[in-house]
Amino acid sequence: MIYDNVLETVGRTPVVRLRRITAGNGSEILVKLESFNPAGSIKDRTALGMVVRAELDGRLKPDGTIIESTSGNMGKALALIGAARGYRVILVTDPKAPRSMVEFVRALGAELEIVDTPDENGGYQRPRRERVRRLTGEIPDSFWPDQYNNADNAATHAEQTARELLAEVDSFDALVAAVGTGGHISGISATLKREKPRVVTVGVDAAGSAAFGFPVGCWAMRGLGIAWPPGNLRHELVDQVQLVTDHEGIATSRMLARSEGLLVGESAGAAVFGALNYAHRHPGSRIVTMCPDGGANYFGESFDDAWLRERGLFAPIAANGLDRLDRLIEAAADPVHPPVHRADRVAESG
Ligand SMILES: Cc1ncc(COP(=O)(O)O)c(C=O)c1O
Repeated sequence: MIYDNVLETVGRTPVVRLRRITAGNGSEILVKLESFNPAGSIKDRTALGMVVRAELDGRLKPDGTIIESTSGNMGKALALIGAARGYRVILVTDPKAPRSMVEFVRALGAELEIVDTPDENGGYQRPRRERVRRLTGEIPDSFWPDQYNNADNAATHAEQTARELLAEVDSFDALVAAVGTGGHISGISATLKREKPRVVTVGVDAAGSAAFGFPVGCWAMRGLGIAWPPGNLRHELVDQVQLVTDHEGIATSRMLARSEGLLVGESAGAAVFGALNYAHRHPGSRIVTMCPDGGANYFGESFDDAWLRERGLFAPIAANGLDRLDRLIEAAADPVHPPVHRADRVAESG
């Protein structure tokens, strides 16, 4: 197959059955590996969808400049798209941005704008967004994708990711996906609710995240979790919420590498832990789990024992035996946070 340009290789990612990380009750976990996208994550789909729609309705002009606040996969995706389609790309980030991301986007010719003064709570997200606003005011023909609030994010997943999944997996009982902007779970679920209404949708979030309205705290995993409910998260399309702790999610991503040969990221680890919990509760079910990015993004962090020790994450993994396959599988049957069903979330919020 010869493609005309690299962006035609976005999507059509493989689906793989887990062989050893299973509940052993006839259930089946299938993982969709988004690291096979050209910039390495599900954000390639999101970014391309937002850019193409902006080109079509004139928000992004030829020779325009794409400006976004990001410290991760969205930056990589936009840098690749900018290089392939000829746009200037400015990524607004902060000193905590992982080195791997900085090197990746620079290699593709993107410019980095570093915000080095945090807000009064020590966070960079708000000052970064303010810098994007200022830059879009100063630079003519600039376009801010704004992945948290841009409806084209979820629409891309409703139209493309969901269709691809339905064509690949003829029947399944549950979809499990981690939540950052809420774009991929909301988009895929929107299509599933219309075409396969019996499929249960499970949103996996970091314990400590406020995406679903739980009190905000701290978490270490990257890719999922947010301090406020994101505009792209459609709560009514998420049937169950599984909050996953750092040690549960990170232990699962490490186990996926060692026992399945699947190098996936932290949010994928959390999603598979959530899928395993669902599998324990539903013998015989078939569960599709989205794995948003690859493990190479985390070699110097959650795959590094010294890094985990420094952050106090090694002890809870070892103390709970989560570095052993049998114990990890058992732990998913009785997670730190039990799943919360939609009816209970609605009742609690009054
Ligand atoms: C690694 C990783 N996991 C999960 C997510 C969450 O995806 P979404 O923004 O579609 O909710 C993202 C998005 O930032 C991500 O980069």
